[in-house]
Amino acid sequence: MASPLRFDGRVVLVTGAGGGLGRAYALAFAERGALVVVNDLGGDFKGVGKGSSAADKVVEEIRRRGGKAVANYDSVEAGEKLVKTALDAFGRIDVVVNNAGILRDRSFSRISDEDWDIIQRVHLRGSFLVTRAAWEHMKKQKYGRILMTSSASGIYGNFGQANYSAAKLGILGLCNTLAIEGSKNNIHCNTIAPSAGSRMTQTVMPEDIVEALKPDYVAPLVLWLCHESCKENGGLFEVGAGWIGKLRWERTLGAIVRQTNQPMTPEAVRDSWEKICDFNNASKPQTIQESTSGIIEVLHKVDSEGVSQNHTSHAASTATSKFDSAVGYRLPSFSSSYTQLESIMYALGVGASIKNPKDLKFVYEGSADFSCLPTFGVIVAQKPLMSGGLAEVPGLSIDLAKILHGEQYLELYKPLPRSGELKSETVIADILDKGSGIVIVMDVHSYSGNELICYNQFSVFVVGSGGFGGKRTSDKLKAAVAVPKRPPDAVLRDTTSLNQAALYRLSGDWNPLHIDPNFASIAGFEKPILHGLCTFGFSARHVLQQFADNDVSRFKAIKVRFAKPVYPGQTLQTEMWKEGNRIHFQTKVQETGDIVISNAYVDLVPTSGVSAQTPSKGGELQSALVFGEIGRRLKDVGHEVVKKVNAVFEWHITKDGNTAAKWTIDLKNGSGEVYQGPAKGSADTTIIISDEDFMEVVMGKLDPQKAFFSGKLKARGNIMLSQKLQMILKDYAKI
Ligand code: NAI
Repeated sequence: MASPLRFDGRVVLVTGAGGGLGRAYALAFAERGALVVVNDLGGDFKGVGKGSSAADKVVEEIRRRGGKAVANYDSVEAGEKLVKTALDAFGRIDVVVNNAGILRDRSFSRISDEDWDIIQRVHLRGSFLVTRAAWEHMKKQKYGRILMTSSASGIYGNFGQANYSAAKLGILGLCNTLAIEGSKNNIHCNTIAPSAGSRMTQTVMPEDIVEALKPDYVAPLVLWLCHESCKENGGLFEVGAGWIGKLRWERTLGAIVRQTNQPMTPEAVRDSWEKICDFNNASKPQTIQESTSGIIEVLHKVDSEGVSQNHTSHAASTATSKFDSAVGYRLPSFSSSYTQLESIMYALGVGASIKNPKDLKFVYEGSADFSCLPTFGVIVAQKPLMSGGLAEVPGLSIDLAKILHGEQYLELYKPLPRSGELKSETVIADILDKGSGIVIVMDVHSYSGNELICYNQFSVFVVGSGGFGGKRTSDKLKAAVAVPKRPPDAVLRDTTSLNQAALYRLSGDWNPLHIDPNFASIAGFEKPILHGLCTFGFSARHVLQQFADNDVSRFKAIKVRFAKPVYPGQTLQTEMWKEGNRIHFQTKVQETGDIVISNAYVDLVPTSGVSAQTPSKGGELQSALVFGEIGRRLKDVGHEVVKKVNAVFEWHITKDGNTAAKWTIDLKNGSGEVYQGPAKGSADTTIIISDEDFMEVVMGKLDPQKAFFSGKLKARGNIMLSQKLQMILKDYAKI
């Protein structure tokens, strides 16, 4: 075991340490060798009165246990005096725990000036004054740990605590900046929002909860954050009852509602409201730089492109365009059928290789989990582009030889079948005027029977034909998203072969630009170039490998912008950033450093959302047999069991850490039912367990309660109900 956390020789000042949380901290620090200044003004919880006995008692307690401590009876408003006590008694100051506090709860309209001011003075100004007094000493010794005490009332708001909420969140703001200013001198500052029973919470919490929520369940976090080995700086933690969680900010992707040279209107804000507030794929900015760089980017985008990415202003949407008859045009529907052969050929074309054993499922039809690479979804939809279908679009009198593939979006609604026939519908979603050319935005929806399998959006740039005064962007266009500014979280590389384009074209892109040197030179390239969609396939494969363990059911969507050509033989380097379930990426040619795919991302399905029906996995699970058996037995005795149990259980069966199947045992309705998939209504209890552990439980080798406490079995909802499960599994799952 690693060595215990000690504070020998460290001088720790705890404010408000005469009772409640502060007392627990002071005792814990002293027990681990710290020299402690126990500060307490000794008034009541409203900040009335003062006295020395509160601090003295704690000092005595520490000394009785063999520790070293001195008392200080000043208010935190006399910050210098508190630090002076530390310096006089022990010669230095290493740790400041700003904890002193009082309450003056009143509904907002009844808060007096005094109630407001005293709360700000004790909490916010007190934390400032004590910390400032210690700061120079910490800077000089190039070491310091500061702890701030905020509150859930500040973070979330709480009725009757406007004064307190304001001060408590002010403290967090103070900490945020101290963490930045202190870091170069090894001064760390963190904030906690505790929940503990104390005289302060006696008035708002039931007595038994006050008893149960011991300050001792908060102190260990405070000690860790104040230890020299702790690197945390600028963190905010909620803590109580033995649980600790970290908080951070989340920001929606938002919407640009302004256009160049046009007034920004409240109507534009209203019309984009849903998007402004949509937390899907939200970012988590951690620094002011990350936050403002997004804003600067907006300025750049609006000014250079003169566009609104998300909102089409009235002026733009009503502008008539010479391509009006083309927009909304539906091309003839078409079918693409494929077998395992095409799917394997595509996988090889985008670099899947038996060098990597985990790729075998993409290149060997005999693999138990043989799968089609998700990006094969573009192949089934690309026909209109490859066969000159665009030339048939009325009003689109353009030179199709001048087409460049600009951007690509692909979304899958379920994993692609291993083989099959998909029928696709194509529509010209929009046409944009980019001055030097136009962008045709083409949407293709592909169906298996009536079921939508995937959606592609091809954005192709046609050189020339622009400058007709049309709009420059469209709310129909799936936006590319800039990659984060920090270094990538992962980088994968693959060297393409000289034959890469020759191999990839067999998947249906026969453009001679990718194979014929003469054609390539006429087009202005020194030799044939790799297909942009081939690079796209390599990059998507890298993301899938790195962040989804090649599990195709986790692939939701991809967006890329093609930035530069690649020559076969060059090395593709995919740089990836994980932001929740969105993996931002860009792809570079390693040899030149050129970015060839930019502003790209892959959206993954969260592991908990992976469908139970994943064909390659659900079938292999041993638990499926047990659920089947339980279902059969229920048919005879269901009615009786429903009476006894009266609950719906949802099971998430995991394999290799991912949810591989969901099952529901409904013992509440009718005469009971067992079915694959999440509960049709709501589940009373949700149980998460691996396939292997599930089998151990039903075979009686693993006690469910032990499995729960060891973390092998997780339960949500009404956990007590899971006790009834033991009976069901025992009685009905004998296999
Ligand atoms: P407590 O009332 O038991 O302890 C606060 C201590 O601060 C008292 O001993 C008091 O005499 C002292 N104090 C008050 N004004 C002072 C001043 N001007 N100068 C020096 N000492 C002063 O309360 P508790 O619960 O231990 O609270 C500690 C801190 O945790 C406070 O900042 C409080 O706002 C915060 N907090 C507590 C929560 C809880 O669930 N107990 C919830 C959220 C925040």
